[in-house]
Amino acid sequence: MDEVFGEDSAFYSKAEVYWKQVPPTVDGMLGGYGSISNVDINGSKKFMQKFLGEGQGKTGNGFALDCGAGIGRITKRLLLPLFRTVDLVDVTQEFLDQAKSYLGEDGKRVENYFCCGLQDFQPQPSRYDVIWIQWVIGHLTDEHLVEFLRRCQGGLKPGGLIIIKDNVAYDGVVPDEVDSSVCRDLPLVRKLAQQAGLGLVHEEQQLDFPEEIYQVWTLAYR
Ligand SMILES: C[S@@+](CC[C@H](N)C(=O)[O-])C[C@H]1O[C@@H](n2cnc3c(N)ncnc32)[C@H](O)[C@@H]1O
Repeated sequence: MDEVFGEDSAFYSKAEVYWKQVPPTVDGMLGGYGSISNVDINGSKKFMQKFLGEGQGKTGNGFALDCGAGIGRITKRLLLPLFRTVDLVDVTQEFLDQAKSYLGEDGKRVENYFCCGLQDFQPQPSRYDVIWIQWVIGHLTDEHLVEFLRRCQGGLKPGGLIIIKDNVAYDGVVPDEVDSSVCRDLPLVRKLAQQAGLGLVHEEQQLDFPEEIYQVWTLAYR
């Protein structure tokens, strides 16, 4: 990654500058593809239904963490309907400020708005039933992603899940100089999660997205 972007610090500061000038809207969160939000959320709901419920091995409905949450698009439509309490973490303070009004009445069940890069974020140990990480892993270097996922594992309750939902490249690593990120292929995402000591529970491709965008995969780990 250093070969692609130079020093880690420049990789992160360029991304911060990029996101600061993005409008705090659903369209802004999705790079102009606000129209895919419904399909995305419905696919995520269906994915989560497999794991939630009562009984042995099921995932609880107490606490969720939305990583790279932006204005809380996922918190509003997926996490607050499924979990009692949600925390948000994002590096862009303006998005978290907007989340406070965007989330409306249900936003009262958000306990924490953490303004922090995921490369520096330490989830509280054993707090979360679900840690949701969507469209943000490409903003972390390989090394920081592995370390972050390891810390996330420590943040899970028994039966808890780490969900990664993101673009995947067809082959190798594709840099994006505009927002200072990378898109990794699926074998690399799996390899980094494995290096973090995570065990794969389930994975599937999100269907019904426009043909011109990257494939999107959802992977559940614990
Ligand atoms: C493509 S948007 C996705 C937002 C949200 N996950 C969604 O799907 O609606 C990427 C988000 O990641 C945040 N971000 C970028 N780099 C980050 C980092 N190093 N740590 C935490 N958040 C970051 C941006 O501020 C932005 O809110």
